[in-house]
Amino acid sequence: RTIDSLGPLRSRTVIVRCDLNVPLSDGVITDDGRIRASLTTIRELRESGARLVLISHLGRPKGAPEARFSLRPVAERMSELLGAPVGFVGQTVGAEAAEAVRGLGDGDVLLLENLRFNPGETSKDESERRAFAAELAAFGDAFVSDGFGVVHRRQASVYELAQLLPSAAGRLVAAELDVLRRLTDDPARPYTVVLGGSKVSDKLGVISHLLERVDTLLIGGGMLFTFLAAQGHDVASSLLEQDQLDTVRGYLAEAERRGVRIVLPEDVVVAAAFAADAEHEVVAADAIGASRFGEAAIGLDIGPAAADRFAEVIRDSATVFWNGPMGVFEMEAFANGTRTVAQALTETTGFTVVGGGDSAAAVRALGFDDQQFGHISTGGGASLEYLEGKPLPGLEVLA
Ligand code: 3PG
Repeated sequence: RTIDSLGPLRSRTVIVRCDLNVPLSDGVITDDGRIRASLTTIRELRESGARLVLISHLGRPKGAPEARFSLRPVAERMSELLGAPVGFVGQTVGAEAAEAVRGLGDGDVLLLENLRFNPGETSKDESERRAFAAELAAFGDAFVSDGFGVVHRRQASVYELAQLLPSAAGRLVAAELDVLRRLTDDPARPYTVVLGGSKVSDKLGVISHLLERVDTLLIGGGMLFTFLAAQGHDVASSLLEQDQLDTVRGYLAEAERRGVRIVLPEDVVVAAAFAADAEHEVVAADAIGASRFGEAAIGLDIGPAAADRFAEVIRDSATVFWNGPMGVFEMEAFANGTRTVAQALTETTGFTVVGGGDSAAAVRALGFDDQQFGHISTGGGASLEYLEGKPLPGLEVLA
């Protein structure tokens, strides 16, 4: 159901679930892509005379307020981009929020504080989620689900809220699905998926499903070290999901059975510490423990030989989906892997999709332009789960 199904919206209060989970550094937004992506729906709703209550999460606070996860800077940036005031209230639900909502006129926009400051948003207990969703629902006459980045989450503002009000998908969600369908409906082959990033346990699970669909998987970023450890290598102080080792061994065996190539880097950049100015060197991927930093060695990027190899595979692919930076691209010493992969995506003649807040932020921070890629998706986990063919709660509830 799209916005059109909601009927005339003049003077009606519409709650819009956005994904405004943008990267922040010392309170400054380092990539505003997700805010920009949310504007199409917001502009359209304003023009229809609706009164807008925007809701979103930011980061992963644990059900209580934390100043560093406040959405206040997002309201300021959105107001600049929209060219209109975006009100902000430092509360998600409660008397102050209710008063701000009551004060809205036609076309006005209000952003509520981070949903995840409330335990009900992400609670495992459905009745708690329902109760929180009911408090949110009381603010509006209709609900628009436009946070594509969270449609894979069964959370109060994504799932339960949509059951309590007349609901529809926003323009961003619809546009994302139009593009991602190209990857699931008979993608051109060879089809390569590049996986990296830091949400390791979230992403390991998608691999078994991807093995049924792709020709090649390139593994970099944080999850790489769990793969190396699963092959019996010492990864010293690198990020490691110890309890996933058997699972990863299973993936490697399954890939072999299916004839899917899983390419792991042959070299990595290790550092003495997690710091931009840390001493670092390139070592073979099976020799991290033998680097000059001993057990302190921490892998922070794929090595140059691996980056070139990944680039070659990408250039030879007809479809490429990339999710997750190859290393700590925010630090120049560890940005080469991510930069080389991004460059290769701009050079292949294949159809390319960059998925996820961090990957999108990475390509922009490294000086690439959105237009150089087939599509930059605002959803990371969401786009991956869509590609896996999993039912996405935030979409199912709108069907
Ligand atoms: C994302 O960054 O992928 C979305 O905003 C979802 O965030 P989450 O993984 O913390 O639910």
